[in-house]
Amino acid sequence: MYNEKDLDTIDLNTAPPAEEPERQYYFMAKCRQYVRELEKKIGRRPTFFTQTFGCQMNARDSEKLTGMLKEIGYAPAENESADFVIYNTCTVRENANNKVYGRLGYLNGIKKKNPHMMIGLCGCMMQEPTVVERIRTGYRFVDLVFGTHNIYKFAELAAAAFVSSEMIIDIWEDTDKIVEDLPSERKYPFKSGVNIMFGCNNFCSYCIVPYVRGRERSREPKEILREIERLVADGVVEVMLLGQNVNSYGKNLEQPMTFAELLREVEKIEGLKRIRFMTSHPKDLSDELIAVMKESKKICRHIHLPIQSGSSRILKLMNRRYDREHYLELISKIRAAIPDIAVTTDLIVGFPGETEKDFEETIDMVRKVRYDSAFTFIYSRRTGTPAAALPEQVPQEVVKERFDRLLKEVQTIAAEQSERLTGQTLPVLFEEVNDHDSSLITGRLSNNSVVHVPGTKDMIGTIANVRLEECRGFYYIGRLCDAKTVF
Ligand code: SAH
Ligand code: SF4
Ligand code: F3S
Repeated sequence: MYNEKDLDTIDLNTAPPAEEPERQYYFMAKCRQYVRELEKKIGRRPTFFTQTFGCQMNARDSEKLTGMLKEIGYAPAENESADFVIYNTCTVRENANNKVYGRLGYLNGIKKKNPHMMIGLCGCMMQEPTVVERIRTGYRFVDLVFGTHNIYKFAELAAAAFVSSEMIIDIWEDTDKIVEDLPSERKYPFKSGVNIMFGCNNFCSYCIVPYVRGRERSREPKEILREIERLVADGVVEVMLLGQNVNSYGKNLEQPMTFAELLREVEKIEGLKRIRFMTSHPKDLSDELIAVMKESKKICRHIHLPIQSGSSRILKLMNRRYDREHYLELISKIRAAIPDIAVTTDLIVGFPGETEKDFEETIDMVRKVRYDSAFTFIYSRRTGTPAAALPEQVPQEVVKERFDRLLKEVQTIAAEQSERLTGQTLPVLFEEVNDHDSSLITGRLSNNSVVHVPGTKDMIGTIANVRLEECRGFYYIGRLCDAKTVF
C-alpha cells in the first residue's frame, strides 16, 4: 500500500526512473505541476469525476484512479461537470457496453463548454480492438484511452495527454506485472475491497473476461496481508477479497498457497472484524475452504457461488466444468458445515441451444438450492467467445419469457428465505444513512442481508446487535439492542 510520498521533493529535471512504482511517482509530480498551472489559469481548484460501469474489481480500479487523481491535485466533483472525467468501462454484456457510447455523446456536449476538460476511457471495453478503433475514429474529443493491464501507469499516460493534441492510446494485450505501493482511495472509511488476484483462466464459453483481463495472476500473500494491516490501522473493519475465481488463488505463486491458507492468515489480523470474498467458482471450491469458513469467527456467513445454469448439458457447453450433481453436493456440504450461511448465485438465461427442458432444470435448481438472492442475466453474445459462434441462438421473445419466469421464482424464494431470521438478534455493520429516510441507518448482517435501523450517523462503521423486527421482502427493519459496539 501507498506510503505518503512527498511528490514536491522529486527532481523533474532528471530523466524518469525506470523502476516501478518510483517511475509513477515521478509522473504524478509532473502531473501535479500541470494541475497547479491549470488552477492558476482557471482561478479555482481543478476537479475530477470517475464513473465505474462494471464489477467490484472495476470499482476497485476506480478507487486506484481516484487515489492518483487526488494525489496530483484534483478535487472530487459530484458529476461529469469536471475538469478530468474518466469512464471505467465494462463489457461483460452488450448493455454495459452500449451505456458507455450513450454517455460519451453527453460528455462531448460538456467538453464543448469547457475546452480544457480531459476525457479518459479505461477498463475492460478498451481491451477490445474494435472498440478502440471506434473511439479513435468516431469520438475524437476523447483525450486518453488505456486498458486493464496498465492502469498503474495512469500518471504517466495523463502526463502525456496533458501536453498532446492527439488522443493518447495505450492498450496492452496481457501482462504478468503487478505494481504495488501506489496511492488508492476508499469509498467507505470502514470497508474496502482488496484484490488478491487478477485475470481469469477459466474461459467459460460465453464470457469475455479472460480476453479483457488476461491470465490469472495472484498477488503475493505478504503484499495482501500488508495492505489489509494498513487498512485496519486506518479504520477498516471489513475487507472483501476480490478475484474472478478466488478458489484458485495462489496456484501460480512461486511458493504456492491455497485460498483457504490465505484466509487463515487474514483471520489473524487483529482489529479486522469481517472477511468477505468473491467470486467462488464451484469447480474449485475445496473442503479445506469449507472447514476454514466453519471455524472462522470473521469470515462472513455468505457465499456467492454462481451456477449459471441448472442443466448439466448447458453447463458442459458453457465449459463450467461441474454438473448439477456436483453443485448440489457442494451446497449440502456447505450447509451441513455452516447452517446459517446465505447462498447467492448468478444465472444466465438463453444460452445458445437452451431448450425448455434445460430451462426447467434451472428453475428446478433454484427451487432445490433456495438461494437467498440471485443475479439473473439474459445471455449476451460477446464477439470472440466460443459461444458467440454456436448455432441456435435462442429467440429474444423466448428468452424474455423465461427470464421473467426465473426472476419471479428467484424473488419468491428469496423473500421466503429472508423471513427465517425475523425475531433474531444479530450483529450489523452500519454502512450509511438511508437514501429515502435519513432517520434510518442502513447496515448489513454477516450473511449480507440489508437491515435498516432507526439511528444516527455516528453509528456508521460500527458493529452492534440488532433485533430484526420485521422482514419486508429483501430487507429488515431492526432495532438497536445495545448502543455499545460489540466485539
Ligand atoms: N468470475 C465470476 C463472474 C464474473 S462475470 C464467476 O465466474 O462467477 C459476472 C456474471 O456475469 C457471471 O457470473 C455471469 O452470470 C454473467 N455473465 C458473464 N458473461 C455473460 C454473458 N455473455 N451474457 C450474460 N451474462 C454473462
Ligand atoms: Fe468469466 Fe468464467 Fe472467468 Fe467467471 S470464471 S470471469 S464467468 S470466464
Ligand atoms: Fe465487466 Fe470487466 Fe468486471 S468486463 S464485469 S468490469 S472484469
